[in-house]
Amino acid sequence: MYPNRRNRRLRTNETIRALVRETTISPNDFLVPLFIVEGKGIKEEIPSMPNYYRYSLDLLKAEVKALYNMGLRSVLLFVKVADKLKDNSGTEALNPNGLMQRAITTIKNVCPDMLVMTDVALDPYSSFGHDGIIHDGKILNDETNSILAEMSLSHAQAGADFVAPSDMMDGRIFEIRSLLEDEGFHDTGIMSYSAKYASAFYGPFRDALDSAPVDIKNIPKDKETYQMDPANRDEAIRETEMDINEGADIIMVKPGLCYLDIVRDIRNTFNVPVAVYQVSGEYAMLKAAAEKGWLDHDAVMMEQITAIKRAGAHMIASYFAKDVVKLIS
Ligand code: PBG
Repeated sequence: MYPNRRNRRLRTNETIRALVRETTISPNDFLVPLFIVEGKGIKEEIPSMPNYYRYSLDLLKAEVKALYNMGLRSVLLFVKVADKLKDNSGTEALNPNGLMQRAITTIKNVCPDMLVMTDVALDPYSSFGHDGIIHDGKILNDETNSILAEMSLSHAQAGADFVAPSDMMDGRIFEIRSLLEDEGFHDTGIMSYSAKYASAFYGPFRDALDSAPVDIKNIPKDKETYQMDPANRDEAIRETEMDINEGADIIMVKPGLCYLDIVRDIRNTFNVPVAVYQVSGEYAMLKAAAEKGWLDHDAVMMEQITAIKRAGAHMIASYFAKDVVKLIS
């Protein structure tokens, strides 16, 4: 009791604050999302994501080496697919010589120790911008799962260490795990987007990949029949439990900041590694506010990353990964 107990004693100077600090950030905390395009010599900035780029495979090599040398050792790959290759069932996703498959081998060739995780979902390949096959205005679940499993196998064959299904179909982890096991890919991991919400924070990402749901009659304009309702908390536990039972090695909560209660609930309930995706809209918001001079970019960035980790994230997929590592090294 006061005055025997004065909490400010432990805040007297930076040395003592550092000694008692509960949460620290290091390069090991990050998964770096990478956007990849077809072509040569391309490094194009995404308009709604300042200082974030799409790379063609030739320039991707240098970027991956640079990340590795900074201590960033895990990447999460997304590809931008040409319109003419898109269809309802994402056929191009299974092309053994597709952009994703070539990206995996390219990275493994230049940087064998880089951990490669790949996005598994139909939306970049879908002519309708959805994460599933559409029939009669509905997203088909089980038919989509078969493709997601084939897609995962194709990524594993190309050398992916982890596949990361981001679609939110029911039962897809079981389908993917079963096919990987049957084909001998026992060590290929699955990072499941388990509690992925139907969030408005994905806008800039959909710009980056040109993957927004199309505005056509009879095609759902949003993803609310498969992604979770932002109003729900207990449901995230049910989703996560299913994915763990079906064979997920790492589970993910997405977006980040608005969903930290979910992260803590999951940490308190299950004993599995938890990833958090600090999404494109979260990145864009801070960049915009900083550009206007309204927020201190670096300070707010560190506060947000620290908050995500403090809430319980074992790893964070973040567009700020490089900025953070530059700042702390
Ligand atoms: C789609 C996917 C999305 C993101 C990752 N995978 C968008 C969506 O669900 O529409 C969003 C990531 C971000 O906003 O940074 N499978």
